[in-house]
Amino acid sequence: MERLSTGVPSLDKLIEGGIPRGFMVAVVGEPGTGKTILCIHFINMGVLNEDKNIYVTTEETRESIINQALQFGMDFRKAIEEGSLIIIDALMGDDRWTLKYLDIDELINKVLEAKKELGYGKARLVIDSLSAFWLNKPAMARQYSYTLKKVLSKWDFTTLAVSQYAITTMEAFGFGVEHVADGIIRFRKSTRGNVLKRYVVIEKMRQTNHSLYLHEIHIVPGRGMIVTSPAVLRREDIALPERVMKKIRERREGEEL
Ligand SMILES: Nc1ncnc2c1ncn2[C@@H]1O[C@H](COP(=O)(O)OP(=O)(O)OP(=O)(O)O)[C@@H](O)[C@H]1O
Ligand SMILES: [Mg+2]
Repeated sequence: MERLSTGVPSLDKLIEGGIPRGFMVAVVGEPGTGKTILCIHFINMGVLNEDKNIYVTTEETRESIINQALQFGMDFRKAIEEGSLIIIDALMGDDRWTLKYLDIDELINKVLEAKKELGYGKARLVIDSLSAFWLNKPAMARQYSYTLKKVLSKWDFTTLAVSQYAITTMEAFGFGVEHVADGIIRFRKSTRGNVLKRYVVIEKMRQTNHSLYLHEIHIVPGRGMIVTSPAVLRREDIALPERVMKKIRERREGEEL
């Protein structure tokens, strides 16, 4: 089976070398956890491999993606000029590669137009984020995801679809793409000893003997994302709040008497 490197070698190790060609993988997690940075690595790898690369951005402008990539030494502007990358800007922009509406049919049409422009060959697609397309109609999430997957599989795309939500609104946005996706890469964060820590866990990767551990990640200036060995979660990271524990203890003691 052919696998595409994610562009983060330490992440590839968790999934037997990469994402199986043709898969649609959901990249999920809370704000600032590394979803966009992973997508940037994935596209950069495509540029290096001379794949056909399309990046749809709904949360940040095209310039912002180019600048973030540049911080890690990746020259997206050059890739665009050389015709191996198209960044479709759904937020701003007024050129040919913008979306008029956040509409799933508009998205599909524009992505296929971009693919035709880039030409024949193995294609990488990032949709950052897909949840933006059903913000005002969350009930449609699953159907839209399914439609999208069906079209993309015909066109030889390997896709990262970002889905963003807070834990509290998970039901509203999360479930559509995650059930339909062939894989789920989930980013998480926690604050331990006043320091923000970020983690990644492979929750699903069909046809792959993937890691089952939570791994800590680092975003390194000039380099980008690095995945470290499995995180050892301490009790206090996952423990219930003390007042809840106290109630449980009190109840237990009451029962034992
Ligand atoms: N040059 C850099 N050096 C170190 N850390 C960086 C650098 N650039 C970005 N970061 C870190 O990466 C974070 C942004 O990660 P990213 O954009 O991938 O988050 P995200 O999961 O896509 O969030 P959102 O859901 O808000 O789009 C920043 O908040 C910062 O902590
Ligand atoms: Mg992002």
